Amino acid sequence: MEGSAAPDEFQIALDSAISAPEAFGASFDAAPASEELELGLGLEGDPGIAFRRTLGMFATGVTVITTRTREQVHGMTANAFMSVSLRPPLVLVSVDRRARMSNLLHEGTRFGVNVLEAKQATLSDHFAGRAVEGSTEPLFELVHDTPLVEGALAHLVARVVRSYWGGDHSLFLGQVEFARYGEGEPLLFHGGRYERLIRDPRVFSLLPAELLDPILALGEEREYADGEALMRIGEPSGELLLILEGTVSVERPGRSLTLSPGELVGEIEVLDPGGGRIADIHAQGSVRCVAVSRDALLAALEADPRAAVALIEVLAARFRETA
Ligand SMILES: Cc1cc2nc3c(=O)[nH]c(=O)nc-3n(C[C@H](O)[C@H](O)[C@H](O)COP(=O)(O)O)c2cc1C
Repeated sequence: MEGSAAPDEFQIALDSAISAPEAFGASFDAAPASEELELGLGLEGDPGIAFRRTLGMFATGVTVITTRTREQVHGMTANAFMSVSLRPPLVLVSVDRRARMSNLLHEGTRFGVNVLEAKQATLSDHFAGRAVEGSTEPLFELVHDTPLVEGALAHLVARVVRSYWGGDHSLFLGQVEFARYGEGEPLLFHGGRYERLIRDPRVFSLLPAELLDPILALGEEREYADGEALMRIGEPSGELLLILEGTVSVERPGRSLTLSPGELVGEIEVLDPGGGRIADIHAQGSVRCVAVSRDALLAALEADPRAAVALIEVLAARFRETA
């Protein structure tokens, strides 16, 4: 390709730049010349702060990096974590040179990467050295001689194979020896604050029976044969289904689950039909269900506005969770 270095040349250039940062210019390793950073239109003030805020637009998960030295267990919150290679399995973490963790990691040291779950913001603060009143001490489990934080969404154990100069940070490349993950939602970090994904599709299922039953009573019974599609991703729709008999498989990008009798399908789409179905849903064996059309649903809400108010409360509570 014209103008681009062949991979080998690039590697040599990168290696020499890493071992000799001055290859990038004499001032590269010196204190950051923030006045050299050009700010886009509309951005004023301290360029360093603007740079931080710009980087903060990159949404990440949150990890706690853990390690053990003789009797000491140490953890540090880090969102500058990335996957690097599948074969060999490699990950990278960027650690502030002033952080204690930076002195604990060396080539050959093992470290754990604990991907925090949505409810672990307090743990994140704890390992970032922020005082959290009334928080309980984190619990660790030892795997490959490395402390792993209990309750995290995913765990990795890696051994430092290389470390690199990274300005006021050090970059530690780790070869992964152990990996596992569980079910759940991740804790997110964006714009300097914690965020959460809202992926819970339950709305009607959270209504009390006295408000939900009159709505379902307006539906009509329907049967599906084994493998038949109840809904297809992207298709426009405006129906709420209650499963009476049999089970259905729900396939959404990144997750799949099985729903059983008593569970509802299409809770979001019936309220927002324009966006299309968000999942592929197929019958597993023969399935019997009740289908409530959007028109019937709207008539039921008009007849009893208490159900409409309850739905708004469910949605408001969902937003509160993320605030
Ligand atoms: C959400 C979040 C992400 C962070 N990411 C990093 C990071 O990637 N690298 C880093 O060096 N510090 C990061 N920090 C700051 C460290 O967690 C903090 O400086 C910690 O007190 C260092 O611990 P230590 O000096 O005990 O090792 C982050 C803090 C928070 C709250």
